[in-house]
Amino acid sequence: MATTDDRAISSHLKESRRFAPPDAFAQRALVGSREAYDALYRESLEQPDAFWRRESSALVWRTPWTRTLSWELPHARWFEGATLNVSESCTDRHLSGATRNKAAIIWEGEHGEVRTLTYAQLHREVVRCAGALADLGVTKGDRVAIYMGMVPEVAVAMLACARLGATHSVVFGGFAAEALRDRIQDSGAKVLVTQDAGWRRGHLVHLKETADRAAAQSPTIEKVLVLRHVGQDKAPIGMVEGRDVDWHHALEHASDAGKHAVAVDAEHPLFILYTSGSTGKPKGVLHTTAGYLVGAHVSTKYVFDLRAEDVYWCTADVGWVTGHSYLVYGPLSNGATCVMYEGAPNFPDWGRFWRIIERHGVTILYTAPTAIRAFIRQGDEWPAKSDLSSLRLLGTVGEPINPEAWIWYQRVVGGGRCPVVDTWWQTETGSIMMTTLPGACDAKPGSTGLPFFGVVPDVVHQDGTSVGPNQAGLLVLKSPWPSMLRTVWGDDERFRTQYWTEVPGAYFTGDGARRDEDGYHWVVGRIDDVLNVAGHRIGTAEIESALVSHPSVAEAAAVGRPDDLKGQALVVFVTLKPAFAPDDATRAALLRHVEGEIGKFARPDAIRFADALPKTRSGKIMRRLLKDVAAGRDAKGDTSTLEDLSVLAKLRADEE
Ligand code: PRX
Repeated sequence: MATTDDRAISSHLKESRRFAPPDAFAQRALVGSREAYDALYRESLEQPDAFWRRESSALVWRTPWTRTLSWELPHARWFEGATLNVSESCTDRHLSGATRNKAAIIWEGEHGEVRTLTYAQLHREVVRCAGALADLGVTKGDRVAIYMGMVPEVAVAMLACARLGATHSVVFGGFAAEALRDRIQDSGAKVLVTQDAGWRRGHLVHLKETADRAAAQSPTIEKVLVLRHVGQDKAPIGMVEGRDVDWHHALEHASDAGKHAVAVDAEHPLFILYTSGSTGKPKGVLHTTAGYLVGAHVSTKYVFDLRAEDVYWCTADVGWVTGHSYLVYGPLSNGATCVMYEGAPNFPDWGRFWRIIERHGVTILYTAPTAIRAFIRQGDEWPAKSDLSSLRLLGTVGEPINPEAWIWYQRVVGGGRCPVVDTWWQTETGSIMMTTLPGACDAKPGSTGLPFFGVVPDVVHQDGTSVGPNQAGLLVLKSPWPSMLRTVWGDDERFRTQYWTEVPGAYFTGDGARRDEDGYHWVVGRIDDVLNVAGHRIGTAEIESALVSHPSVAEAAAVGRPDDLKGQALVVFVTLKPAFAPDDATRAALLRHVEGEIGKFARPDAIRFADALPKTRSGKIMRRLLKDVAAGRDAKGDTSTLEDLSVLAKLRADEE
């Protein structure tokens, strides 16, 4: 079984500062005191029906639900009896009153151009895109893959799928053709939506080219809808006769099939999002309609303390779950103005983020610890060049934040006046599970704090009994919550075994944590075979299976090494087949191979060649020992099951 990292815990223990909500913030906050939070939290558990009914009343329901929850572990059905369409809550409902002409999306391209879509315009585009997709044969229940960059049309495409009752599967634009193909094949998508290319750090990312290679190996794909974003002069693309359809042309001539949203059942599949697990095959996490929407909607409202005049910027890519819940569904269902930025945080220089904040008057910034640590390295002078006084709230997500980075964020970016919310959640949870509500609860740098409404976390031994305060254990969620994943697409057995069997009666998160004497949670990171590299979730098994598919590789093991900037760096140990030399050429070929199989973001930080890997007598690679070797520390714990101690000695010697 997995073990938690005691070192990380003891470093957390050293940090015990508390930051109370600033008075000026608390006075105007939606939840303005600890007592108010406690009362709402209690209500969410004791009277879930009344709680969720009130909190979801702003959403558009075609028919109200008759039963709040049916729960038969591990299957939950929330808000049964309800019918709705998510796109109506995100667009149609804002068409009357002041939100009609309010900016829904303010998009900034990497080259500085700005496009704004009001709610009325967003609605029009969603209706047209839904019509175009329907004209391509998409109907309720079909799957549509979306492989795009950070452009407003990606949100339009997602909402258009939802409008038809089709299930979208957004694939991060950094994935390579093989990874895209696997995801398309697994979901059985009928249509692929893509774009010619996007900008990243001054370079073009040729999405259509990659999409073509994936589509050619995906027999279920009938049509490819192609947005021309950068244009034929910069990124010439070929259109496949009979398969490829131009976005602008299709929307211009779309039927009115998108006009009326299709009402679907509460548990109708809204989207599939692939994420890494402990095998080489990514899991298609399935989220459904009503519960997901309610979770994203209510958490956005309270965690970000949303007000009508806010300008909200979530920097996550739409290809990850944060982009789904906190760039699209959460903020749009609340009628918020969202900033969306196409490119890299350091293009053309490290002042880019701060200029975006000043230019658009961003009031809420939600970003990742990796980005914060990268900014710290560049020095305080970059944020100091811009006027950041519009900011009133800061958020972080994706990995544990070290207290130093938290404090820098609060002091240098937030000017000491903005609360910081550290939000813990996962692709599987759909929405934020733990944080400290910004006007209500003290924040402790490095801790994700307290449960959100309806969430019952615990830190337990493997038998499910709670550990004592400040003791390391497994982080679990003990009762169902509306936006929980419903299954793994096409593999309900995997859903059951991955999440519901490790700890009896509870959802196992894969994370290790401790809970302090105040009930605050300190997540130390993954304790399963999943890495978190620069906020990207990567399965060690995925990397290993990519490596062993290269003709030179006999065996491979991937592990994480603590890294000041990325949280974890990816180190792989490789044994080669006899005909291959452990030299720079092989190393370069392997790096290219991983990039080609998965994507550039999964490129190992170090490749170490070894004659043999440490194994147990039953032949299992002892990753724990490799982790220690990668981190340059002495192997902790028991090596008695190691088959051949000299293997370990040799690996260490190679390092010296
Ligand atoms: O290990 C936890 C870490 O990210 C994992 C979930 O990754 P993913 O599904 O890609 O979703 C990322 C965005 C929600 C978790 O199991 N994680 C996420 N947020 C935090 C975190 N670790 C510590 N603190 C957080 N705030």
